[in-house]
Amino acid sequence: MSKKLWGGRFSKKTNPLVEDFTKSIDVDYLLARHDIMASLIHTKILAKAKLISEPEFKILYKGLSDIQNELGKGKFKFDKNSEDIHTDIQNKLERKVGPVALKLHTARSRNEQVVFDTKRYCVFEVCNIINKSIGDFIKQIEKFANTHKNIIMPGYTHMQHAQPVKFKDYILAYAYMLKRDSKRLEDSLHRLTYPLGSGALAGTSMEAKLYNEAAKEIAEKMDHPFFKVVENTIDNISDRDFIIEILSALAILGMHLSRMAEDFIIWSTQEFGFIEIDDAFCTGSSLMPQKKNPDTLELIRGHTGELYGNLVSVLVMMKGLPLTYNRDMQLDKKPLFSSIKIIKDELEILTRLIAGIKINKVNIKRQLEEESLYATDLAFYLAKNKVPFRKAHEIIGKLIKDSLDLNRRIKDMKDEELKKYSPFINGKVIKNIFNPITSVNSKKSFSKKNLSCRVTVVEPR
Ligand code: ARG
Repeated sequence: MSKKLWGGRFSKKTNPLVEDFTKSIDVDYLLARHDIMASLIHTKILAKAKLISEPEFKILYKGLSDIQNELGKGKFKFDKNSEDIHTDIQNKLERKVGPVALKLHTARSRNEQVVFDTKRYCVFEVCNIINKSIGDFIKQIEKFANTHKNIIMPGYTHMQHAQPVKFKDYILAYAYMLKRDSKRLEDSLHRLTYPLGSGALAGTSMEAKLYNEAAKEIAEKMDHPFFKVVENTIDNISDRDFIIEILSALAILGMHLSRMAEDFIIWSTQEFGFIEIDDAFCTGSSLMPQKKNPDTLELIRGHTGELYGNLVSVLVMMKGLPLTYNRDMQLDKKPLFSSIKIIKDELEILTRLIAGIKINKVNIKRQLEEESLYATDLAFYLAKNKVPFRKAHEIIGKLIKDSLDLNRRIKDMKDEELKKYSPFINGKVIKNIFNPITSVNSKKSFSKKNLSCRVTVVEPR
């Protein structure tokens, strides 16, 4: 194990099993850039508070900036023997600038560093998901919907034929879900507080003002609308709500993607045959030569379990923890990083998959011939002719049942037969109403024709 940030109080070496069990570098190396930023800000504050001299400040600042550059150029080698990323960067700085590096940790704690790093990671990732991943996906959904704007399909409830709907509206329903997802994610950022200055839990003797000034000066990136000044250091160190909120928003988003995946899986079955998924997004069978399986979509559906599990694991880990920091909290990052990665991958894959979907209009149109799809329109027609709706419902229900029992299409029934159900029903009326175009055009409750589903947020640089 490399040099620890503690040790003075100990007379024995840590058991190697414990070192292995307690370290987190394998996971938290992803926080490196944010940890360096935290240190750059802290260095500036130490200088302002006169806890380090101007030359010392310059050495530390330059050393950290060099590490930052190395990381940017991919030249940063993580030391897998470090306890965590905070330790690794501290040790790297010491190797670079010598003993002055030992002053960097003045008046700060890893407890605040880890909160800062994770929050800043969240801001970057969540902004990227909203602006890029969801943004591109919604754009593709809109394109897909508009390309097929004239297609009418059967709408389903309980997976049974319900009423005809526009394919476009069906697909755009997903864009609205994603708009809500974007808003939920954005909202989770608005409660972020700025943890530097919290110390281990009790705060530091340096003024909060210094932290804010330094943050603004050095990292304009942190002068971000989402970050609020620290008010209660104890809460700041104890709080992982932001992770739970983000994991929750990502779990809901994943649920939406899994429903879309499921729709596409069903539509691509031989039984439906509404769509064909591009070969590049399917896989085959080792035994059955004819198979083309929608594995990509199945995995999108399957990963939802992981997204829920990640949320539940942090919720359970936090339950009943006494304030403030407890080592249990180290286990928050794996689920967070996992959910972020799953969602980014899924959105990217689905964006491309949708672009390659082929629609089989003939199969969709064939389903529209099924007469029960128009039963509700016929009941509405009777209601418009002053037949009480419950009565109309019963009349049409009976008509559908007879048609099924007699194995006769309603369209083929004679006027005399139809009149027995209601004097308002005849062959002409049936012909008019049993028409997908008439059916969808008769629905006026769509208030918005032009979508504005894309949400953007101010991105940190
Ligand atoms: N690796 C730790 C974590 O991720 C960092 C904080 C360590 N703090 C401590 N007091 N041991 O939570």
